[in-house]
Amino acid sequence: METIKRQNKKSSGKKIFFQSPKGMRDILPEYQFLWEKIRDEAVKIAGEYGYLRIDTPILESADIFERTGEGTDIVEKQMYFVKDKKDGSLVLRPEGTAPIMRAYIQNGLNKIAQPLKLFYIGPMFRHESPQSGRYRQFHQAGFEIIGADSDPIYDAQIILASFRLLEELKIKNLVIQINSIGCKHCRLAYQRKLQQYYKNHQNKICKDCRARLQSRPLRLLDCKDEKCAPIKSRAPIILDQLCGQCKKHFKNVLEYLDELSLSYNLNPHLVRGLDYYNRTVFEIFSNTPQFSELALASGGRYDHLSEMISHKQICAIGGAIGMDRVAELLKSSDIKPLPPKEQKVFLIHIGDEAKKKGLSLFEELRRAGIKAVESFGRESLKSQLKAADKSRARLSLILGQKEVFEEIIIIRDMKSGAQETAPIKKMVEEVKKMMKTQ
Ligand code: HAM
Repeated sequence: METIKRQNKKSSGKKIFFQSPKGMRDILPEYQFLWEKIRDEAVKIAGEYGYLRIDTPILESADIFERTGEGTDIVEKQMYFVKDKKDGSLVLRPEGTAPIMRAYIQNGLNKIAQPLKLFYIGPMFRHESPQSGRYRQFHQAGFEIIGADSDPIYDAQIILASFRLLEELKIKNLVIQINSIGCKHCRLAYQRKLQQYYKNHQNKICKDCRARLQSRPLRLLDCKDEKCAPIKSRAPIILDQLCGQCKKHFKNVLEYLDELSLSYNLNPHLVRGLDYYNRTVFEIFSNTPQFSELALASGGRYDHLSEMISHKQICAIGGAIGMDRVAELLKSSDIKPLPPKEQKVFLIHIGDEAKKKGLSLFEELRRAGIKAVESFGRESLKSQLKAADKSRARLSLILGQKEVFEEIIIIRDMKSGAQETAPIKKMVEEVKKMMKTQ
């Protein structure tokens, strides 16, 4: 409040309309049910597949991301730094995987049965150019399997959990895009080949690709510029360059997906914006107009991320669902979940005594599991009835001085307008009975 006043003064009479920070949105009450639905499904899927919930702080040491995402836009250009007097550089976490690995190592989670399946939900922050489906604060639900061998069965399990979550939310036309980016050995050989190929076409590619050619050659495959499309389409593909072990790993992942009847598209151009991945990478899309370009979920294997934090190798794989994109898609779809239909009663008072009594009756209804709403701030019967109508209450309970004195209450059916009187002692019983009738 103070800040608002001060800023208003500063503006010397000019009216200021405060807005949420650019790229960050309010989730209004009317959409809370949608978000709750996504959260509930995520928690349900996590439980069914044996993932344990973990919550890490929203702030993390910048160093964690700088080590695990060196050279990436997310880390080099998009992190929000937070001034901290003592603890050095802290950032609002741009993603959840590196913090989960930090928590796994810090808390000795390797001492419990492995692999450990972990699940998280929470906000992430990236200073991106905001556009539809791309925000600066967004929310992820993520699954990670940490501490097993680099066994392809876990890759399939992560893709399965991510896919099932979207499927349970009734998102149609889901498409899994999958690729392998190999291990550091085969990837290095491939990168050299790719660089050689692009060098031969340097004058035909965009400015960004010319920069990528030196610094991050794999990202050449991620270019969306039409100018580069013909060059990209003829570029060598990594699947042809995988070493024997990576080839076997990827073949097994695909066989497991076949076993699960999950269809997929091999996408040799799929590389990820984060640099800690090896072998399997995936993204899940919905072939729905306006959304087909936005990954709803993505992830991959990261067998070497732990080495950047603790110098010890801990194999892992994970994936995260973009909850904002899912919410937007559900909002615009014809199968969007509807707010739960619950029967409500509206408590109406006339006069001070009734208002006081109303407080304890509200408690009685709540304890009996009856959803009650009130408008204690309004005094006139008319405005309270109007509010009851607006709230779509099934019944109104009307209490005046006379009713308080005689210990009775009026029960009004909001649809038919029919009213009856019941002893206050029997209020809960009567309400329950009337709610059962149509
Ligand atoms: P990511 O691809 O950066 O991966 O993000 C995962 C998902 O979050 C995306 O598929 C997308 O749905 C959503 N998302 C990303 N950025 C935005 C944004 N600016 N606005 C709205 N939604 C967004 C990761 O973050 C990895 N940590 C995933 C992972 C988990 N890898 C292994 N384990």
